[in-house]
This record gives sequence, structure tokens and C-alpha cells, in this order.
Amino acid sequence: MKIRKKNLPLDKFINYSLYDKKNGYYMKKYPFGKEGDFVTAPNISRLFSEMIAIWVLSFWKSLGCPKKFNLIELGAGNGEMMKIIIESLQNFPSFFKSCKFIILEKSPSLIKIQKKKLSKTKIFWIKDLKKIKKNQTIFLANEFFDSLEIKQFTKKKNLWFEKFVCLENYKEAYFFEKKFNMKNYEKKIKLKISKNQNFIEYSEVGINYLKKISKIIKANSGGILIIDYGYSKKKMKNTLQAISKHKYSNILKNIGNSDITHNINFKLFQEITK
Ligand SMILES: C[S@@+](CC[C@H](N)C(=O)[O-])C[C@H]1O[C@@H](n2cnc3c(N)ncnc32)[C@H](O)[C@@H]1O
Repeated sequence: MKIRKKNLPLDKFINYSLYDKKNGYYMKKYPFGKEGDFVTAPNISRLFSEMIAIWVLSFWKSLGCPKKFNLIELGAGNGEMMKIIIESLQNFPSFFKSCKFIILEKSPSLIKIQKKKLSKTKIFWIKDLKKIKKNQTIFLANEFFDSLEIKQFTKKKNLWFEKFVCLENYKEAYFFEKKFNMKNYEKKIKLKISKNQNFIEYSEVGINYLKKISKIIKANSGGILIIDYGYSKKKMKNTLQAISKHKYSNILKNIGNSDITHNINFKLFQEITK
């Protein structure tokens, strides 16, 4: 595998491992199910997606049954959840007529699979939340945020260090740390992530999504349902992990062939969405 930069901050490394155009995990592999690397709830039982459909319906009612609104799934995987949601909601014609179904998806190969599976319904695929119309909007995110790349920082003797990966020798990749200016970074992201922490795990991409979504909901009304692995304590911890064939694997081995994920700090999510 060819790579231009030899030293990557952890988030760039994860993005490269998962989404490199040629060799990225989500660009070439079908990761779902028994034959793949992991199973998500919609692929275990349709009851899961049916429950989500009922939640969407009652939430839409609580919004006053708007005649035009968006239902957006973030990162739809193999499209199974959206398929069952649509099948369930077809039984409610006034809802169905009002709803614009949208999927935000990054992986072109998964978009192909989703398009095949969802060919019977009009669905809009987007890559950017700017593309959505200003209607009331319900967002669904099942195991979406945990798949987004993270940065990690450690505090030592009052100095902050960022985790990097050295890819000089591809088969012997290793982690190392670089001194990091946390104050400047916190100014840039407008968030005091280091307060009372000795270790930080932070997804810039994830928090940017959450901020954009919060703005959209604030401006047009709506809501978001986030289902994910996570914890709700303020103190951050190292939850970085790789999964291959339903088992934990080494992040730096077999790059591009295992899923890399982390657990969500819901306390931070709560702060942002407040
Ligand atoms: C772990 S899978 C979960 C799939 C599905 N929600 C499920 O539960 O089966 C993560 C999904 O998010 C998509 N994804 C990851 N990063 C993304 C991004 N920045 N924008 C849009 N989709 C993204 C992946 O391609 C994949 O479809």
C-alpha cells in the first residue's frame, strides 16, 4: 500500500485505514454480518428498526405532524435499517406522504449496496448536511458516531502530547507522541476539552457533525436519536479499538482490513447539544 505521508496524527491514520480510496476498509470490504467483521442491531432482528420507526412516527406527531419534513439516516451501512423503517412507515400514509427520506453516506461502495436494497423508494443521498432543505428534520444515527475518526492526547508534567502513527515501514507501524499546543487547539475548536482531564479522546469530525445538526434542529425544529456504544462520565478514557472477524484485533496490523472504532463520551455530546 502506498502512502505519501509517513507520520500521521491518529485521526488521519484512522481516516486513511477506513476510507483510503483504494485500500480503505469501508471502500473495499463488506463488513457486516456473520461472514464479515461485525454485526449491527438492524442486521440481527427487524424488530430493532421497527421500534425506531415507531419512535420516528411518534416524534413526528409530537412535532405537530408537519406536512413536509426530512428523515435523515447518518451512515446507513448496508441499508437494512432504512429498508425496515420504510416498510413499517408505509402503513401510515399521511406520514409517508410528508416524509423526505435522506441518507448521508461516505462510502461509495456502501451507497451502491444501499441503492440496490432501497430501489423501490425515492431516497436522496447526500455527502454534506448543507444539502438538506430547511424543513423540520429527524436524524437517526445507529453506530455512526463511533465509526468517525478520533484524536488522542495525553498530559505529562503539565504538557500535552498528541498520538501519532509512524508508517515508515508499513508492516511495522508504531505509535509515537508529539508535543501539542492544547490552548491554540481549544481556541480553534471553541471548546475547553482539557478541563479536568489527563487524557483526551476527541472526534473533531463527530463533534462538528453534532454542532451542525444542533444548529439545523435549533433553526427548523426536529430531533436526533443516537444509538451507540459509549459512556456518560466526564472523565475521558482510551476506548480506541479494532475489530476483525468479530474479535478485537491490533490496530496497527493488517491496516485497511479491520474496522477501527471507539466509544462515545455521551457527557460531551450532552454538553454540545445543550
Ligand atoms: C459502523 S457502520 C454502521 C452502519 C449502520 N448504521 C448500521 O447500524 O448497520 C458506520 C457507517 O457510517 C458511514 N460513515 C462513516 N463516516 C462517515 C462520514 N463522515 N459521513 C457519512 N457516513 C459515514 C460508514 O460508511 C458506514 O455506513
